[in-house]
Amino acid sequence: MSEGKKNVALWDAASRQVYKRLLGYSARYWPVILISMIGFALDGGALAYFTSKLQPIMDKLLEQKDPYLIRWMPLWIIGIFLVRGVAILISNYGMGYVSRNVVQSMQRDVFAAYLRLPASFFGSEHSGHQISRITYTSEQIAGASTDALKVTVTESITVIGMFAVMLYKSVYLTMALLILVPAIVLIASAVSRRYRTVSRRIQGMMGSVTGTVEEAVKAHREVRIYGGQQQADEHFKQVSDRARYLNLKIVATSAISGSSTQTVASLALAGMVYLASRPSQIDHISPGVFIAVLTAMGGMLSSLKRLTNVQSTMQTGIAAAENLFAILDMPPEVDSGTQVLERTKGDLRFEQVGLIYPRDHFEALRGVDLRCAPGTVTALVGRSGSGKSSLVSLLPRFNEPTSGRILLDGEDYTSYTLASLRHQIAWVGQNVVLFDGTVAENIAYGELAGASEQDIIAAAEAAHAMEFIAKLPDGIHGQIGEGGNRLSGGQRQRIAIARAILKNAPILVLDEATSALDTESERLIQQALQHLMRDRTTLVIAHRLSTIEHADQIAVMDQGRIVEQGTHGELLALDGQYAALHRMQFHQSGD
Ligand SMILES: Nc1ncnc2c1ncn2[C@@H]1O[C@H](COP(=O)(O)OP(=O)(O)OP(=O)(O)O)[C@@H](O)[C@H]1O
Ligand SMILES: [Mg+2]
Repeated sequence: MSEGKKNVALWDAASRQVYKRLLGYSARYWPVILISMIGFALDGGALAYFTSKLQPIMDKLLEQKDPYLIRWMPLWIIGIFLVRGVAILISNYGMGYVSRNVVQSMQRDVFAAYLRLPASFFGSEHSGHQISRITYTSEQIAGASTDALKVTVTESITVIGMFAVMLYKSVYLTMALLILVPAIVLIASAVSRRYRTVSRRIQGMMGSVTGTVEEAVKAHREVRIYGGQQQADEHFKQVSDRARYLNLKIVATSAISGSSTQTVASLALAGMVYLASRPSQIDHISPGVFIAVLTAMGGMLSSLKRLTNVQSTMQTGIAAAENLFAILDMPPEVDSGTQVLERTKGDLRFEQVGLIYPRDHFEALRGVDLRCAPGTVTALVGRSGSGKSSLVSLLPRFNEPTSGRILLDGEDYTSYTLASLRHQIAWVGQNVVLFDGTVAENIAYGELAGASEQDIIAAAEAAHAMEFIAKLPDGIHGQIGEGGNRLSGGQRQRIAIARAILKNAPILVLDEATSALDTESERLIQQALQHLMRDRTTLVIAHRLSTIEHADQIAVMDQGRIVEQGTHGELLALDGQYAALHRMQFHQSGD
């Protein structure tokens, strides 16, 4: 029973809540909205005034040949339409202004959320969805936040007005509405629910469409080399077919809603005629009253039709807002620490640290104990997938340990503020990420943006990047293209290393930082880094063991555990995994 009641209600409580919140965005521009509304009222008013005066004026003008009117009438007409023209111009621009601003605020809010959400969020869905939220979903709220609001307000007023007219003219004939109203409410509620569900699915589909394009564009080389064109084409066709199908569902819903409203309207009109022609009534109802009620009903019907039509914009907007608000409401990165870390001594301890990735409950780390003393170099080696990157990803809190704890300078590292903790860390990751811009902008990125040209060049020199930068037409002010696509893999790595050098942070993490370099460059950078590592705590991950022989300690990882630990000499003497690995590489390079 209560279920039935809920279904009859046009909107459920949750949608009302979402819509209210969305209107909060429009409400910030209330003066503009007010002016627009006044403009719309002025437009409608001027037209109504003109229409109502038309007949008496015509009589005076054409029959009495009033000389005053003959002179002023043409100007009058121009005047009234000028008022209407200006009013409608201001109103339309005002509404457009509000809706564009609302869309932009929403886009900025979602983007800001992307900047503060934890790293785990980005692995939780395809990046296509993240992009399409900004490019597609945000756009969907434009109509709902303004135009639909306008239609709802003005048409509701019309409906109420027409209803009043009908009641005033004949309560008896107004009973015909008893058929109309419940039927229209039923149609509108069914239709709006359908719009909402389909819109949600369209959003998801648009995410997939974006994702598919993104993949094919990014992987354009793989697509060509491996002849993936047909597969990519198929895949795109599938998702775009689905999007078209869903969009057509919206069209169908709208068409059905239009014609069923029409049918219901004819029932109501027939009902009215039936009521009027009852033998007991037929003598009491004058043609004038009948025509007046009929006209009022006609006006009400067209308003009701517009109100049902606007549901599609409204519900699409609500479904979109729902999706966007869900992102805005996600908890940001945990940053409960209060201590501001100035400059850490670099005393780092992992105590029984475990990590289970939430996505597939994969246990990547199982009770890792590791002490990195200030100013020492710790090398992590081990098979691919043994958990090396996972372990260092805990340091800047990209992932939170599921068990155990990490101490920095003797204190739990979560007691420091996130920003001050990350401030201590320079990082060269396994996948170098560069930004569209100049070499200098890439080296002095983010907080480093104020660095002097001298310092940037010094960092580039230490990273042995200056040799190729100098050859660029504009030197360090040369553009490197999107993602650094005008540079070679090794050149990109050297820019990333220069960035880390410039940061001059007390903790340095190098995750395969030199893997793309030739042996000669690698050796040179190693020397530079050696110099850099002297007074900081360094964690190095490397597959080429020759680069880590001089590390203060080497930890060998296997399946999320540290299985051997010691210096190069100690581990060779132990004759375990490390010694085996070393033998293998030594033989390889000896060949
Ligand atoms: N975000 C993630 N969600 C689920 N599992 C993950 C995630 N990242 C890594 N893993 C898994 O955790 C394990 C350890 O990964 P990790 O990247 O730490 O290995 P690694 O030692 O750095 O390997 P490599 O030498 O190849 O870089 C792997 O088996 C990997 O499949
Ligand atoms: Mg790794």
